[in-house]
Amino acid sequence: MAEELTEYTGPATMEKITSLAKRRGFVFQSSEIYGGQNGAWDYGPMGIELKNRIAANWWKAMTQLHDEIVGLDAAILMHPRTWEASGHVENFTDPLVDCKKCKTRFRADMIPEENLANKTCPECGGELTDTRKFNLMFRTHIGPTEDNAGLIYLRPETAQGIYVNYKNIIQSNRMKIPFGIAQIGKAFRNEIVTKNFIFRTCEFEQMEMQYFVKPGTDVEWFNEWKKRRWAYYEKLGVKMDHLRWHQHGPDELAHYAKDAYDIQYLFPMGWRELEGIHNRTNYDLTRHTEYSGKDLQYIDQDNNNDRYIPFIIETSAGLTRTLLMLICDAYDEEKVADKGDADDWRTVLRFHPVVAPVTVAMLPLMKKDGLAELAQDIRNELKEDFATDYDQAGAIGRRYRRQDETGTPFCVTVDYQSKEDGTVTLRYRDSMEQIRVPRAELTEKIRQEIKAYKRK
Ligand code: GAP
Repeated sequence: MAEELTEYTGPATMEKITSLAKRRGFVFQSSEIYGGQNGAWDYGPMGIELKNRIAANWWKAMTQLHDEIVGLDAAILMHPRTWEASGHVENFTDPLVDCKKCKTRFRADMIPEENLANKTCPECGGELTDTRKFNLMFRTHIGPTEDNAGLIYLRPETAQGIYVNYKNIIQSNRMKIPFGIAQIGKAFRNEIVTKNFIFRTCEFEQMEMQYFVKPGTDVEWFNEWKKRRWAYYEKLGVKMDHLRWHQHGPDELAHYAKDAYDIQYLFPMGWRELEGIHNRTNYDLTRHTEYSGKDLQYIDQDNNNDRYIPFIIETSAGLTRTLLMLICDAYDEEKVADKGDADDWRTVLRFHPVVAPVTVAMLPLMKKDGLAELAQDIRNELKEDFATDYDQAGAIGRRYRRQDETGTPFCVTVDYQSKEDGTVTLRYRDSMEQIRVPRAELTEKIRQEIKAYKRK
């Protein structure tokens, strides 16, 4: 087995990633004109395309490729009893300390031990408060009055929307155990956020799948889902030596989990959690039975109407965190010439074509002599099958570089020869190789290339 990497040695830094993300319209600071809103980010034209494609790819892997997994889109606002039952009101806390002088708030487990021991602020040396438990759920009020009767939470995980609907889905879709329910949606946590761009935010998106199994088969299914989620990243072309497993120790396990493994990714700032796979046992459904008074047992009609509360295996990935991971993973700087100027280097995002924000960019060699019109015409044809872009501004080399920076895997140029023999040039982002393809075969050629894509 290859030795595990200890630190990130690639060309990316979080500063470069943040700057490219803004420059190329992936991610902007929220409310930037007012000085920004901590913990929240906006996804620009490239960012939303990338996010939608990651979501679609995960959705396909979960639902289309698994007959026994169906989807759900539950509300963010749920009955407040949900969060008492789930244990979040009681247990979903971080240990926090405040500096009495500079008023900075820290997570107690994130500051040096000596500061905690002698109660001094790591920023200004002022006195720290005692450690307090701080609940991470955002609270608000529903209805016209701001009293306790209207207290409501923004969901801190999407999972609970699945649990409270599990009986509805069994009944409406005749699901039989084992089966899964997948959901993508926003979640909110009142986190202390200071650095690392969109890695940890207060508003984020999750892609969660809850798999309902017979008690006693949970360990087997837990291992099976670990395998499937690992294979998912492999298929997506992620650098596999940048992924590893981390098993939660007893003091890391969430209140609902019997066993949990994180898939960690080696980001420029080090190894960090990307996704969690959890054996949540029958904890959540048992608690919802207790708090709602509803019978949430499964009736096994194939086995003498046996009744039991299913165990749940959860796979939980951050969508926005996956987006950051894929940008870091795709980021490359490559020397492509030796003229001694800035153009010798290109920055390229080597996204898998299934997630790249733009699949094909159409670039006419010249605007004149009908080449722009021809290029537009071909682009209109490609639009039906692919996300396309069109760029006729500036030298062709510069235009290729712009597309490389947003990770467009294929560029198509039309030139004078195109007018004569109906061929176009197809340029590959990764190798920069160019081949001529008859216009009539272009769509099929690109389709085949996407299917056969392997990251070098
Ligand atoms: N339902 C289980 C659950 O929520 P979690 O480990 O707290 O488990 C799952 O979160 C995933 O959600 C994480 O692996 C991460 O990718 C993402 N995530 C959690 N908190 C986040 C935050 N504050 N900002 C961005 N992503 C976050």
